[in-house]
Amino acid sequence: ATRTPLIAGNWKMNLDHLQAIAFVQKLAWALDDAKHNEADAEVAVFPPFTDLRSVQTLIAADKLKIAFGAQDVSTQESGAYTGEISAAFLAKLDAQYVIIGHSERRTLHNEGDDVVAAKTAAALKHNLVPVICVGETAEDLEKHGPSAVPVAQLEEALASVSADSDIVVAYEPVWAIGSGKAATPEQAEQVCAALRESLRARLGDAIADRTRILYGGSVKAANIAGFMREPNVDGALVGGASLDVDEFAGIVRFRQ
Ligand code: G3H
Repeated sequence: ATRTPLIAGNWKMNLDHLQAIAFVQKLAWALDDAKHNEADAEVAVFPPFTDLRSVQTLIAADKLKIAFGAQDVSTQESGAYTGEISAAFLAKLDAQYVIIGHSERRTLHNEGDDVVAAKTAAALKHNLVPVICVGETAEDLEKHGPSAVPVAQLEEALASVSADSDIVVAYEPVWAIGSGKAATPEQAEQVCAALRESLRARLGDAIADRTRILYGGSVKAANIAGFMREPNVDGALVGGASLDVDEFAGIVRFRQ
């Protein structure tokens, strides 16, 4: 299966809408300078909600080859849910993707697998591609080994996914996020392969073969190539290093 790699930048709660415009412009120039070919890797940014309209407008006006998405979405369709953002709103902004179940949401906002499944369903209903995040803590790793927790989390999220759904899976070991201690490429491969097999067992070969499975956790320009050489790692979900244009462009140029 040939899967176009996806390099995704999760800005988390960084960059206001003016900074976002400057950043996306600089990123587009950096990718241009690098003669970035979108067939080699797709690039996506995940700004805060308040930046999305500005990012959408800039990308459309300048016809930039940069995709974008949101960092979260409501489980609900519409109504009295103060502070929530619906999948319909995101689709209307031409967002392509939405991150679901990031470990920071799971831990800081108590999002369980049921919420992740409901958000995945909401995203798919509006033709957004959910980037379903899974990953184990250091404690889980010690207790259950490398793949058990991420695979169990994915299986719960798949409740609302069908064989023809378009999804992305991101394996982010919690112990590697923002810690500077990335997993090794072998560790990432082992879990990404297990996640792909779980997709295959539940939903069949076609979706297992076409779905991009990303690694996330302290990815930078200096370590991306090792991950990308693994057969089951199809890209990266990048946090800290996605906030530096040159560093992020360096990750996109993982082949060089
Ligand atoms: O969504 C991104 C991840 O949480 C990884 O963050 O690259 O800063 O370790 P990091």
